[in-house]
Amino acid sequence: MSRRLTWLTGLSVLLLGGCGINLPGQYPLASYTRAELIGEKSDERVDLPPAIREELGNLLVDYFGTPKQPGLLSISDEQWQNLIHGQALYQKHCIHCHGLNGGGNGPTAPFLFPRPRDYRRGVFKWKSTTRTAKPTREDLLLILKEGAIGTSMPPFRLMPEKQLNELVDYVIFLSMRGEFERKLLQYYATEGPNVRQMYAEGVSGAEVQQSVAQFNKELAEMAPEVLAEVQESWRQAGDDIIEPNETMPSYNVESEEYEASLQRGKELYLGDKAACYKCHNRDGRANVADMDPSMREKNVDDWGQPNYPRNLLLGMYRGGRRPVDLFRRIHQGIAGAQMPAGGSNLKPREIWDIVNFVRALPYRPSLLPQEKPKSAGHGHGHGAEESHAAEDDAKAEDH
Ligand code: HEC
Ligand code: HEC
Repeated sequence: MSRRLTWLTGLSVLLLGGCGINLPGQYPLASYTRAELIGEKSDERVDLPPAIREELGNLLVDYFGTPKQPGLLSISDEQWQNLIHGQALYQKHCIHCHGLNGGGNGPTAPFLFPRPRDYRRGVFKWKSTTRTAKPTREDLLLILKEGAIGTSMPPFRLMPEKQLNELVDYVIFLSMRGEFERKLLQYYATEGPNVRQMYAEGVSGAEVQQSVAQFNKELAEMAPEVLAEVQESWRQAGDDIIEPNETMPSYNVESEEYEASLQRGKELYLGDKAACYKCHNRDGRANVADMDPSMREKNVDDWGQPNYPRNLLLGMYRGGRRPVDLFRRIHQGIAGAQMPAGGSNLKPREIWDIVNFVRALPYRPSLLPQEKPKSAGHGHGHGAEESHAAEDDAKAEDH
């Protein structure tokens, strides 16, 4: 049983090696509700029977090692070294927010809004690829260098490229581990024996044990396929990059062509084809109280965290402020968040008009109707004072 051996080795390294750095012997197992795992309307936790829990823990150690000895089957020594370095860097710079297992659950996390990313779904928001694809390494490097503006995710621009790359390796590793774990847990939640119910129905202890053993066998058999599937999705990320097939028209900002592009962008923004106004509101400030009623209930992301449309008058973009970043955001929407993909409705030229318009908005809020926020008087109206650029805008001052 080589896999028990691996596990024991990991444990003895921890025990004999002492706890110079205070890392637990194993990554903590995830705990999900049925809603989080398989989308059922139920807040019941998916509780594994002890024997299945142990098997899942062992499989995770077999395939991904331990915090002190992270590893993946069939990687080269060099890749393994990178992981070990990445782990040490992660522990120093990231763990207090993103957590030991990358669950976005470090000790600082509960005090942050938005919450640090939980990598275990394999879903990332700020990327160059299609909505359902993984981010590329370059995407992850970029977010590490730039941080996510307007959130607590800091930029690590001063870190040497080699170290940044090692961190990217480790983030991808944690994400793969989390997805692998999640898929096996999903399998349990849909196909696994419900031991408590079996006992309640008077099934004999021996039969229960047998079905548990049978299920554990199935888990172990499917594990290599699940791993391969997860690894493949990361390998494919680079095939799914959104490259605008029309370059951004370059306008002289004092030209009529530029004004015409802004007007077209505005009409799309306020029209039903792009329908940006439904969430970001007609004035772009995304005040929740003013939101289209059909949208108001939906302000949570895939992780169940509160997630509000951005106030577009601030000009702060978590996923990058280059025109191509905004193009991709509008083309694919934002993975894990409510923002929908516009790419199938909108021509590239139209998306560029919207990009132009969005980029101009913080400097010229009067491009959009300045509506009195419905929330005014409730103490939530925070639009006008947030806009740095509203000074020369007579209407914006009228609140
Ligand atoms: C102070 C807390 C904090 C620290 C420290 C921190 N992060 Fe983050 N990180 C965040 C938050 C918050 C987000 C979510 C931002 C958002 O939702 O846009 C995030 C998001 C991310 C993302 C997801 C980007 C995406 O496209 O979805 C990655 C990757 C990431 N962090 C990696 C790291 C790494 C690696 C480190 C350490 C080198 C680190 N973070 C350190 C808070 C932190
Ligand atoms: C169904 C609601 C919805 C619609 C429709 C919508 N958005 Fe968003 N938008 C959001 C949410 C929610 C976020 C914040 C996502 C996050 O940070 O996780 C967001 C974020 C953004 C951002 C910030 C990106 C960043 O990097 O921080 C921009 C820019 C944006 N939206 C533009 C638009 C434009 C332009 C349209 C119309 C083409 C549009 N949105 C349509 C919900 C929506």
